[in-house]
Amino acid sequence: MLGLPGSGKGTQSEFISNKQNIPHISTGSLFRKADQDGTELGLVARQYTAKGELVPDEITIGIALERLDQDDCSQGFLLDGFPRNLAQAEALNQYAAARNKMIDHVIYIETDEALLLERLTGRRVCPACGKTFHLMNHPPQIDGQCDYCSAKLIQRADDSEETVKERLKVNRRLTDRLVEYYDSKSVLRTVSGSKEIHELSEDIAELLQRD
Ligand code: AP5
Ligand code: MG
Ligand code: ZN
Repeated sequence: MLGLPGSGKGTQSEFISNKQNIPHISTGSLFRKADQDGTELGLVARQYTAKGELVPDEITIGIALERLDQDDCSQGFLLDGFPRNLAQAEALNQYAAARNKMIDHVIYIETDEALLLERLTGRRVCPACGKTFHLMNHPPQIDGQCDYCSAKLIQRADDSEETVKERLKVNRRLTDRLVEYYDSKSVLRTVSGSKEIHELSEDIAELLQRD
């Protein structure tokens, strides 16, 4: 899943992962989990994620590819937020080629940037089960409480206005490069992220059925 911060990668990945029965692997979530667990990786990653910068490739590539080696990925997987630059894309390419695997689809959620700041600052997440909500677009049934496990919802540490602006700046050009890269490999499928959540998920489901 390719797209700027707030484009809806995580939201849509959850639908696809459930439907296709493949693991949803988000490097951002792996870093947040490590931070929550207080591991060395978590500490290092936080220095970058807190500022909205990319975690260095040597760390990120190692974490992502190690995750893909786990048994539950043997029949396929969905990557969300990885690769994020050309070096990561090349590393994934080599990893896949060495195992006779293919990247079948790269879904690019193209979104009007004016929407993203409001989406990210209004996002609330469940620290217990990881589900994502939005104050206006996707509110929980009970204010401030997770629909799935009743835990108290929180705001992600990198969803402050200042950090969001930095994340958009960091990712804008890199995302464009990856769009060109995957387009040249004829695996790019572009969808409009400005649509409502369920409408967009129908577009993606249809597109995956077609190919
Ligand atoms: P990561 O967690 O991947 O963050 P991100 O790329 O900034 O993307 P987000 O998770 O913020 O947005 P999303 O597209 O998933 O949107 P969501 O579905 O939640 O990475 C975090 C950090 O980790 C990075 O900044 C970096 O430091 C590091 N990192 C991660 N991967 C890395 C890599 N490969 N290399 C180096 N560093 C890496 O939706 C957002 C909100 O909008 C939600 O509230 C949702 O409810 C709402 N919403 C979703 N879709 C819609 C819609 N269609 N209409 C209205 N509202 C919607
Ligand atoms: Mg996400
Ligand atoms: Zn929950």
